[in-house]
Amino acid sequence: MRITVIGCGYLGATHATAMAELGHEVLGMEIDPDKRAALSEGQVPMYEPHLAEMLRKNVDSGALRFTDSYAETAAFGDLHFVCVGTPQAAESLAADVSQVENAISGLAPHLDRPALVVGKSTVPVGTAERMSARLAELAPAGGEAMLAWNPEFLREGFAVQDTLHPDRIVIGVQDGRAEKLLRDFYAPMIDDGAPVVITDYATAELVKVAANAFLATKISFINAMAEVCEATGADVVDLADAIGYDERIGRRFLNAGIGFGGGCLPKDIRAFVHRAGELGVEDAMTFLRHVDDVNQRQRERVVHIAKAMVGGDLSGARIGVWGAAFKPDSDDVRDSPALWISGQLHLSGARVRVYDPRASTTAAQSFPTLTYADSAIEACRDADLVLHLTEWPEFLEITPADLEGVVSRPVLFDGRNVLDLDSWRSAGWTTRALGRR
Ligand code: UGA
Repeated sequence: MRITVIGCGYLGATHATAMAELGHEVLGMEIDPDKRAALSEGQVPMYEPHLAEMLRKNVDSGALRFTDSYAETAAFGDLHFVCVGTPQAAESLAADVSQVENAISGLAPHLDRPALVVGKSTVPVGTAERMSARLAELAPAGGEAMLAWNPEFLREGFAVQDTLHPDRIVIGVQDGRAEKLLRDFYAPMIDDGAPVVITDYATAELVKVAANAFLATKISFINAMAEVCEATGADVVDLADAIGYDERIGRRFLNAGIGFGGGCLPKDIRAFVHRAGELGVEDAMTFLRHVDDVNQRQRERVVHIAKAMVGGDLSGARIGVWGAAFKPDSDDVRDSPALWISGQLHLSGARVRVYDPRASTTAAQSFPTLTYADSAIEACRDADLVLHLTEWPEFLEITPADLEGVVSRPVLFDGRNVLDLDSWRSAGWTTRALGRR
């Protein structure tokens, strides 16, 4: 099919590339000239495993190209995926949906034949209904310009895999024609066993924020447990393993640590609370405020722990940090707990040296005053304390012997609960983690 993808950031660039890979002809609409130029040359403006090779291949073959013209976009295909961002608004907890509104308003006046616009962006419930009305009003094709809402569940670091092999396909529609078109479009995934949920707009929109709210709640639950474990001498990893064997609970997303970050979970739960307030059901969502508070407290606790581990005075303390990205296999530092902690320590007078295998450049853009090292070992040179904050695989391979003669004091904090602290202790290191014995 000939399809278009409006907004070629994380979600859009991945969707456009993966759909070209599946054999569709794809036109990406991107208004940012730098991003568009990079994509047109086959370059991905962020780090995502496997995406760059796939993008280049499909750009080279001509299956995927990019434009900044809505007229060209409307003329190119009959299925238009809206993948623009919905960041947190500047002055409230709400999601800023202006990019979605602009995409619909930009495309609609050019839709002069039947077309299906498919929203994939994460939006406050009620947005699709409004956008559907706007589409019908502005499109010359009138009611023949339809809207469907089809949320995306891809994870950074696994974006290509999640797009090509989704664990479910959720489609919010107003009539059977849109459903049929999307069922045909997603036939390879459906034949592959992906379950399909056909529902209304509001449910489709809510599924996405409810999923992220549940994941965030799971993480804050285990982090709250970590604090209780610390007060009682219990061990949160054993606890998570034990409750995780219960299939109703499940072990995934029960890794206690410095908390969740990124461009999705934090902003989505805040936007959800805000929207619940507008809908008059704020009380039902109060627990999400606590989820956010627990998450924020984890970061603050690490700053206090670091202070204690350097002897009570951060001023002038040398701290080596492993990790800046909000999670491994990503160069994304949006709302990254690792970078937040590094920044706070720096502002408290510590001399912080950060190393991240992929995110040093993005981190330096948002936090230029920190020092960035070229290797994990260099980050620890003369350090009084080493903080492990993002669980990149290469950090697990570092041994106490690698840091012999490098650090000034053998003191290690594991903020992700994945290092083998017994082996560090046996080598004479003082260690601490969150919720661990
Ligand atoms: C999240 C969801 O997992 C995706 O399903 C969703 O599509 C996406 O948001 C989105 O809305 O676009 P992502 O932001 O890529 O995906 O990251 P996650 O893998 O969910 O991790 C989020 C944060 O939670 C990371 O900072 C991670 O370190 C942290 N985390 C995760 C924990 O602290 N403990 C865990 O057990 C799991």
